[in-house]
Amino acid sequence: MPGFDFFSGQGLVRPDITAADAESMASSLFGITGTARELGSQQDRNFLITATGAATSAATGDSAGDSAGDSAGGATQRYVLKVDNPAFSAAELAAQDAVMVFLTERGMRVPQPVRGLNGLSRQHWHATDAALLPVRLLTFLEGPSLEARGYLAPPVVRALGRLSGTTSLHLRDFAADGLDRTLQWDLRNAKTVIDLLMRWVPAEETRDQLRAIADSAAARLAAVASVLRLQTIHGDITDDNVICRVLPNGHHVPEGVIDFGDLATGWLVAELAVTAASVLHHMPDNPLAALEAIVAFDEVVPLTEAEITALWPLIVLRGAVLVASGEQQVQIDADNDYARHRMDAEWQVFAAASAIGWEEADAAIRQALGRRPHTGAEHTTVPEHTTVPEQTTVPMIPALADGDYEMLDFTVTSPALADGLWQTTDAEWRLAQAALARRSAAVAPYGQFRLTRTPPHSRREPDTFALFTEVFLPAGSVIVAPAAASVTEIGGDTLVLTLAGFGLRIGGIVSNLVPGAAIAAGEPVGVASPVARVTVQELARPGLPVPHFTQPSRAAAWATLAPDPARLLGLAPQASVVDPAIELARRGAMMAAAQEKYYERPPQIERGWQELLIDTHGRSYVDMVNNVAVIGHSHPRFTRAVSDQLALLNTNSRFLYSALADLCEHIVATSPDPILDTVLLVNSGSEAVDLALRLARIHTGCSNVVALREGYHGWTSASDAVSTSAYDNPFSLASRPDWVHIADVPNSYRGTHRGAGAAGEYAADLARLLADPDGPGADLAAFICEPVLGNAGGVVPPAGYLARVYEQVRARGGLCIADEVQVGYGRLGSHFWGVQQQGVVPDILTVAKAMGNGYPLGAVLTRRDIAESLAREGNFFSSAGGSPVSCVAGLAVLDVIRDESLQQNADAVGRHLAGRLAELAERHPLIGMVHGLGLYMGVELVRDRDTLEPAVSETAAICERMLELGVIVQPTSERQNVLKIKPPLCLSRESADFFVDRLDEVLQGGW
Ligand SMILES: Cc1ncc(COP(=O)(O)O)c(C=O)c1O
Repeated sequence: MPGFDFFSGQGLVRPDITAADAESMASSLFGITGTARELGSQQDRNFLITATGAATSAATGDSAGDSAGDSAGGATQRYVLKVDNPAFSAAELAAQDAVMVFLTERGMRVPQPVRGLNGLSRQHWHATDAALLPVRLLTFLEGPSLEARGYLAPPVVRALGRLSGTTSLHLRDFAADGLDRTLQWDLRNAKTVIDLLMRWVPAEETRDQLRAIADSAAARLAAVASVLRLQTIHGDITDDNVICRVLPNGHHVPEGVIDFGDLATGWLVAELAVTAASVLHHMPDNPLAALEAIVAFDEVVPLTEAEITALWPLIVLRGAVLVASGEQQVQIDADNDYARHRMDAEWQVFAAASAIGWEEADAAIRQALGRRPHTGAEHTTVPEHTTVPEQTTVPMIPALADGDYEMLDFTVTSPALADGLWQTTDAEWRLAQAALARRSAAVAPYGQFRLTRTPPHSRREPDTFALFTEVFLPAGSVIVAPAAASVTEIGGDTLVLTLAGFGLRIGGIVSNLVPGAAIAAGEPVGVASPVARVTVQELARPGLPVPHFTQPSRAAAWATLAPDPARLLGLAPQASVVDPAIELARRGAMMAAAQEKYYERPPQIERGWQELLIDTHGRSYVDMVNNVAVIGHSHPRFTRAVSDQLALLNTNSRFLYSALADLCEHIVATSPDPILDTVLLVNSGSEAVDLALRLARIHTGCSNVVALREGYHGWTSASDAVSTSAYDNPFSLASRPDWVHIADVPNSYRGTHRGAGAAGEYAADLARLLADPDGPGADLAAFICEPVLGNAGGVVPPAGYLARVYEQVRARGGLCIADEVQVGYGRLGSHFWGVQQQGVVPDILTVAKAMGNGYPLGAVLTRRDIAESLAREGNFFSSAGGSPVSCVAGLAVLDVIRDESLQQNADAVGRHLAGRLAELAERHPLIGMVHGLGLYMGVELVRDRDTLEPAVSETAAICERMLELGVIVQPTSERQNVLKIKPPLCLSRESADFFVDRLDEVLQGGW
């Protein structure tokens, strides 16, 4: 028997029921005493009942016999009381009850109908207006839905698609009376529903747009509608009808399905279309994010060719139905806040879905599903794409025939775009002109990810992929038709031709042809315009609207619609394959697993510039972590100095050359105190620390060293021995050699002592350690720590701590080593060295990283008498330490820091950043603390500001999301719950703002 028919009545108004009514229904019909709170619904009334009294005789399910009270397991039991719209028949409601029992038996997580006091799950209620309303009680699935989430991470979207697919898989086997319904949500009726409800859309212009897009979708759908598979479908597996398990990183993974009110026979692919559409309002600026759901669905229920063709039109139609229905609902049911509240989301879904053209959407879906490109066979309106056999084409630009042309390289790795040239607006033109001075033409090939199109701060992928070939050549050069063609369109300097099965768009020409003109192969179609920049774009089907550039993630799909026109120009195809996954596999095959790498799916970074890193797809990222590149990436002055010196001499420090003394003089000039006047050059931080420890032990004749907990000082045997970081080595605390003694980390945010007296308390602890007869005090060589604690997350020790500790150490004859490998060199802004900020003078200071801006270079700065002790153990020499090139590199860095006022920049931008982060912390409770100063900071993320539970997995997920938004930031600290902020010191205010804005966006919109 046919069920509800939307078209016979139209416009369902929700039954008029209050929460108090719902409470009486729960108790009088189901024996459950509780409080009721209304849940939103378009056309029914749903109430959440929280039971306060035990159920008396209610039981779960028609077939299952458990009592609702028992299933609560002692915890507060919650239910959903549904007052169904009386327009629905008993058979329809019975089918919904039956399907929940059926799916539970199949192992799915869905609500269960609860039997009333009379043993039946379907009850009735006499409303005040004498109507008899159907009432049901369902168990409540505990857990959040996805509705309130902003951004949905790819694994979440995949899980949603998989859940939709799994439901469909099972529903294929479910049959019942009451499924033959004519619902407004059934996408088979979409066009009729939209036509009918269109009048409720207030603005005429919007109405026209909606109608045009819906008509176009319906027309595409019509070609395959008759062969789409029909079965039982849920019809509404959306973000708000799934119940999630919340992972520690905050991701909500859909696992349960609720709301079977739209259960009916329908198109299988409509199930997916509805699910995919619901993803769109979470990521309205990236509609193709829904592909993750589509792929996951297809893995469970493989889609047919026709279903693939129908999918995007159905997604658009779903958006249109939601919009039209929503507009109607808010007007006929003025009190329906739920419907009103959803309107923005409905419009967003529609706008996002219709922002992608049919051809691109189809190609992108096929690409994602690994299916062959569309052949057009299902569309009589779209001719099949056949490529012209090579021998029948005539090269389009005779001027290229003699081979006197140069290929231009606009890619990320192009040496010609060095020194920031890529950022100039006329970079392409300048490279082309330079090439034209050497050859008679220059070709910028199809398929390059152009660095010249890379913007510096972009939260979305930029359009870098060239879907055309560009030829620079003298004005007036002739262009001919590659094969027999007719003129489709001519306008401005662009000519569109239709050839056998494909189209050709030629830009930058002057042509006398008129639309409809027929041209033979080899016949001129025009000449290069005075701009002399001819673009050639092949269109897989004539008339396709193809952009010249697209985003990297859309390149593969577009490439099937706009293939490489190289052969039409007599050129060899040039498109380079840049796939970071291949690089990752190559690296994995050869490198030890212990070698760290950033990110789950790392971008392939092949260029750096100032505070930017750029991947092979031409995506730039603000680099918030590269403390080594202190003066910025690829600094021209540094690059030149190093390469000039390489061309002159590179040997070792046993020879005499001026750069060595130059560098040492410059380092001594920065010394925090004139007493530190002697330099030893090495090539890394580990080596510097190793040497510092050796100096201390030789000089004092003692062996014990005190190091702080949660510290990292390097990987050589000695520097590793004083590294206590449990992140770098989980067994670190238990595996120290007996000469290493560990003192508490002076972290007044989460450490042992947190109050105003923390400095004194930590120092007192250290005094006790030194006084311990079994402790390090008697044979003390050194105390080592970073003046600002990098590995603890950029934590500044409490004021006065280091001064007290140095005093105690010296009182026992030990030396004080300050490890400035990370913190020194102007990074703190206010001071060049960390010890200056702490108001102390060490006996030995180690430096590296920033010292060479990435060139391996390190140093120990100490007192002459300490340095001289080394002679007791023979000579000292480190092959690359102090080589001419190392020295020149070191000098260039110091010169740039001075000449470009980078320390002052670190101070100014650091203060700005600190201010903005403090403001962010007021709004986002996840930010527990902002540590550090200058451009040496850490944003510590905690789940609870009282317990300080570290938000570890959230930090990792946030970093992954920040990457998508164009920022490179990484977790740091012992607990990996601190965002490391140690960017190049040239970080601009704009880049700092970009970072904070993106972090705000992620903390607000989700990760
Ligand atoms: C404080 C500190 N000391 C020493 C080192 C070791 O430096 P390198 O990696 O140059 O050997 C590091 C490296 O991260 C460090 O952070």
